[in-house]
Amino acid sequence: MATVKANKLPKPNLNTSDWIYSSSKEKINSIFLKDKYGLFIDNKYQDPESGNHFSTINPATGEGLARVAYASASDIDKAVRSARKGFNRYWSKLQPAERGKYLFRISRLIQERSKEFAIIESLDTGKPIRESRDIDVPLAAAYFFYYAGWADKLQYAIPGSRSRPVGVAGQIIPWNFPLLMAAWKIAPALAAGCTVVLKPAETTPLTAMLLAEIMLEADLPPGVVNIVTGDGVTGNYLTEHTGIDKIAFTGSTEVGKKILSGKAGMNKKLSLELGGKSANLIFEDAPIDQAVEGIVNGIFYNQGHVCCAGSRLLVQEPVYEAVIDRLKLRIQSLKVGDPLDKNTDIGAIHSKEQLNKIRKLCKLGENEGGEFYQPQIKLPSKGFWFKPTLVSHVSQSSTLVQEEIFGPVLTIQTFRTVDEAVSKANNTPYGLAAGIWTNKGSKAFKVAAALRAGVIWNNTYNKFDPAAPFGGYKESGFGREGGKHGLFPYIVLN
Ligand code: NAI
Ligand code: MG
Repeated sequence: MATVKANKLPKPNLNTSDWIYSSSKEKINSIFLKDKYGLFIDNKYQDPESGNHFSTINPATGEGLARVAYASASDIDKAVRSARKGFNRYWSKLQPAERGKYLFRISRLIQERSKEFAIIESLDTGKPIRESRDIDVPLAAAYFFYYAGWADKLQYAIPGSRSRPVGVAGQIIPWNFPLLMAAWKIAPALAAGCTVVLKPAETTPLTAMLLAEIMLEADLPPGVVNIVTGDGVTGNYLTEHTGIDKIAFTGSTEVGKKILSGKAGMNKKLSLELGGKSANLIFEDAPIDQAVEGIVNGIFYNQGHVCCAGSRLLVQEPVYEAVIDRLKLRIQSLKVGDPLDKNTDIGAIHSKEQLNKIRKLCKLGENEGGEFYQPQIKLPSKGFWFKPTLVSHVSQSSTLVQEEIFGPVLTIQTFRTVDEAVSKANNTPYGLAAGIWTNKGSKAFKVAAALRAGVIWNNTYNKFDPAAPFGGYKESGFGREGGKHGLFPYIVLN
């Protein structure tokens, strides 16, 4: 069969703006939210010592959902003591296989209550229910299930060595994948024999509070998992507490650097999963339609609130027009709106601050000469929203090409040769992920070996599996989560 060059493909003829979907809204009568949540310490919900609470809102409406406790230094101290007691008294005394049973149980309970988790996650974060239902929640259960299997096989993680748990882990997570990040942190720690104090992001604490209920249902011994809510000040108390042996942080590079310098001189293990500015490379021999889906998945789903988002598009010149034409059409058909509608592709921007940050960076990009394209779609009147955005006429030094935007904004550059593609992709302070689109395996391997990024996808994007390690280089952080590598931050070799 004769092959058709991608740039000679007929223009797609889909007038998708005429498509009308009837709304298919997830019913929220299966969930229950308390008015007020306490701190989860020593298997009890406790009021914060200050008596202070703060609100978490639904970014799709701007309305309050619930109030959560604001933990002060003395609450953090209590949580760390509880984790130490949980470690000494219960968790370190259990047979490893018994630890595994708890993890299996937690995984099953998440599955049983998956609908509740998905709805609450979408309400609290603004992400589409399709994402929370099909990605966040099943993956969270899968990570617990995967690490359950390692609990009694730690001696095989590093053959020929014996290991022991680090002790008490202080874990801080961001707002983009609240439940999934909690699972990424808690599951390997418990499997390795550590106990934890977890602090969710101040804007998205609700699925972590539901996870606390699961810990009770699973009969986890007291103090093994403690969940404390608060902001950066609270997080800082946790990282500086002398009673923790290990800090695991996912969030901004700025805070990551602060934690790194603050920890100097303290005898604590540290892993950091920070930002990214990942490139998606489309070669002329790529399957163009699949590549366009991959680009959309890489940056527009989940509003670009993904640390490994494919936020820089690099297209080989001969297929530039074919790719851009399709991409423009495709983003015209994306449904932006109610996160609880099952048709929705792009939900709400997570907060007013994040929306302002995206707007400010885009303004800067405009002033620098970037050419912007947005589809003609209507945004909801309440809440925080941003249209999927393409930015061309940018150079390697443009702010939008260099800085993490964490929004649905894609910069577009071209390249002629493999070497040019690699050098542009690597020209960034970050090194988290990359995507390579080509129908030649040899090219994919050659390019993958030359890219300085922790995770590289070939002819796909944003695929996760608990058995695969994830993490970055350079300013994207260090340490790996997932796979047996995800255990290493929580063990010490004897
Ligand atoms: P952030 O880094 O301030 O927040 C992440 C977590 O760290 C939250 O739980 C927060 O309470 C905590 N935290 C804040 N300051 C702390 C401190 N001094 N010590 C200990 N913990 C602290 O991120 P933020 O402000 O929510 O987002 C800012 C930017 O960071 C975003 O625009 C995005 O570019 C990037 N980001 C990257 C993420 C990733 O997955 N790599 C996730 C979220 C944000
Ligand atoms: Mg919220």
